[in-house]
Amino acid sequence: MSHLEFAAETPACASDGVWLTCIECGETFDPFAAVRYTCDECGGLLEVRYADLPTWEDFEGRGVWRYADALPFEAGVSLPEGDTPLHEVPRMETAVGVERLRIKHEGMNPTGSFKDRGMTVGVRVAQEVGVDRLACASTGNTSAALAAYGARAGLETLVLLPKGKVAAGKVAQASLHGARILEVDGNFDTCLDIVQDLAGRGEAYLLNSLNPFRLEGQKTIGLEILEQFRREEGAYPDRVVLPVGNAGNTAALYKCFRELVESGALDEEEVPMLTGVQAEGSAPMVEAIERGWDGIERWDDVETRATAIRIGNPVNAPKALPGIRETGGTAVAVSDDAITGAQRDLAEEGVGVEPASAASVAGLRKLRDEGVVNVDERVVCLTTGHLLKDPDAAVEAGAEPEPVPGTTEGVLDHLA
Ligand code: F0G
Repeated sequence: MSHLEFAAETPACASDGVWLTCIECGETFDPFAAVRYTCDECGGLLEVRYADLPTWEDFEGRGVWRYADALPFEAGVSLPEGDTPLHEVPRMETAVGVERLRIKHEGMNPTGSFKDRGMTVGVRVAQEVGVDRLACASTGNTSAALAAYGARAGLETLVLLPKGKVAAGKVAQASLHGARILEVDGNFDTCLDIVQDLAGRGEAYLLNSLNPFRLEGQKTIGLEILEQFRREEGAYPDRVVLPVGNAGNTAALYKCFRELVESGALDEEEVPMLTGVQAEGSAPMVEAIERGWDGIERWDDVETRATAIRIGNPVNAPKALPGIRETGGTAVAVSDDAITGAQRDLAEEGVGVEPASAASVAGLRKLRDEGVVNVDERVVCLTTGHLLKDPDAAVEAGAEPEPVPGTTEGVLDHLA
């Protein structure tokens, strides 16, 4: 039995109306008395719970902390994050064949990815529990965000990256913001295994999405999408399509929707269908959805040009699989070429994203072609990271520079 439903009563261990619940066995814990990422009893994933859930009128201000009433603190180390645009993409609507498509561009966050939303909350919790060193495993974006927020908070940061598989922009960010970068001979999943061990031994505070507080910050993507879409379209979107790696964002959006239903801010029928997209070479979540499995089976060999989602063991699957199923969504795998094609199409509308982000659009196109998505659906595709994160992929997908002589005549000759 899963304990994803909300309990009627506040347990005695709650701190200021906030506590942690194990989604597997239902055990509850004080959220800040000790550092804890998983359940002491059964090792299950933990979820943050609140005595009072807010509704739309409770939100005020800007950015992630506009939603403080849905978060464990009033404010945190902020750069600031959130308030990302919801772009119209008329040519893409026509090309894909949906009447209303919007792009929620999370690449417009301070370090260029949605990870900033989780870090502002996660680092605030690190300060609360009092730690010396922050750490994460990363395909790149988490490390960039952690390095920046750690620097801002004046905390030491350690990042473990899979050697040779992290895009240049992300390594540059982690490096310049002062993180210690360990290049691991292994893939992301190996890095995460090691960081979990280090965290378990008290060597560092873990800020991967296994940390339930990270997901609280990322919930605000869902809150922003619903508010923006309602303001601009007079309705909520029917479907949210997003790239899936560790499945943290999928879990965060599902929790966002569940809390809104629980508080009465959203009707059950209004919950958007969560639709996850993975790269074909790295698709354990898609496999689990297609085969109706309760959990994922770890893929040891993963490969894709979309290095951000090159992940074979999505640790948030126990939260994300029910999210996809219970919202009536689905999951789909796309080829690297389809990802690059979608990256170009977005760029042609002025929206610059990294390959993993373009997977959402490639997935939508595939599902539309297969008739899974209807023409009259209101769809939001989440683009998770900025184009400049992976300059090599962008140069490869883009046009070749044309060499010309250093004279006006020479340039005119070339153009003619
Ligand atoms: N898109 C981008 C650009 C990402 O960087 C990630 C994850 C995802 C999508 C997938 O999100 O894990 O919540 O399903 N990047 C992590 C990292 C793993 O280390 O930066 P998810």
